[in-house]
Amino acid sequence: MTLSLSPEFKTQFYHLLESRKSIRKFKPHPIPRETIERILAAGMHAPSGKNRQNWRFFVLTGPKRDEYVLLSQKSWLGIKDVLERRLKPSLYQFTERFFYSLGDAPVVILCYSMNDAEERYHTSIGSVYMAVENMNLAALAAGLGSCTMGAPLEIRQEVDRFIGVDQWPEYKDDKLELLCALVLGVPDHDPPKAVRQTEGRVYWLEK
Ligand SMILES: Cc1cc2nc3c(=O)[nH]c(=O)nc-3n(C[C@H](O)[C@H](O)[C@H](O)COP(=O)(O)O)c2cc1C
Repeated sequence: MTLSLSPEFKTQFYHLLESRKSIRKFKPHPIPRETIERILAAGMHAPSGKNRQNWRFFVLTGPKRDEYVLLSQKSWLGIKDVLERRLKPSLYQFTERFFYSLGDAPVVILCYSMNDAEERYHTSIGSVYMAVENMNLAALAAGLGSCTMGAPLEIRQEVDRFIGVDQWPEYKDDKLELLCALVLGVPDHDPPKAVRQTEGRVYWLEK
């Protein structure tokens, strides 16, 4: 099957891809559940190894999201020393504020992978991240902003306990693994696009 897309649509499609950038400051407006569901559905259109659809998403809104912010503050304490050495002071301070408030994002989606012996580990992980990027793009298409965050991995076990997956049999079998959080909401800043490097990223082998 080939899709027949209008030239305008193609232009807009690339505009969407190229416009995506991580948003780390949000207006506290709640996001309608249907919008979140639409974004999750876009995520689940992603390909996955052996079509296992091994993503598992936990959506935090309202008081549960507020409780999660308190955990995020703890994750900051775990990584602040490394980042303080790596980032320039202004960026370090911005990042600290982000961890303390999650940029006021009204929605946090914790993204897990269900791994099993049927599929290679990296294929399982990659499948979930494909869904995550679909969701980043769907959020943008919905007029929202988002940021993928590996930071929760610093407090992985606390997060697992927080949402209760530590009681799942698959978790006890070491199959359910937290990969990242996706925070989203209405953007409250317009950061510059992070520069893309082209040098040394692609190698064409033709002969
Ligand atoms: C797997 C992954 C983990 C990330 N973790 C964090 C994070 O913990 N905190 C954060 O502020 N940004 C995080 N980011 C966002 C990156 O910093 C961002 O994508 C990168 O700097 C490029 O900027 P852009 O998304 O605006 O294009 C993460 C991105 C990815 C893909």
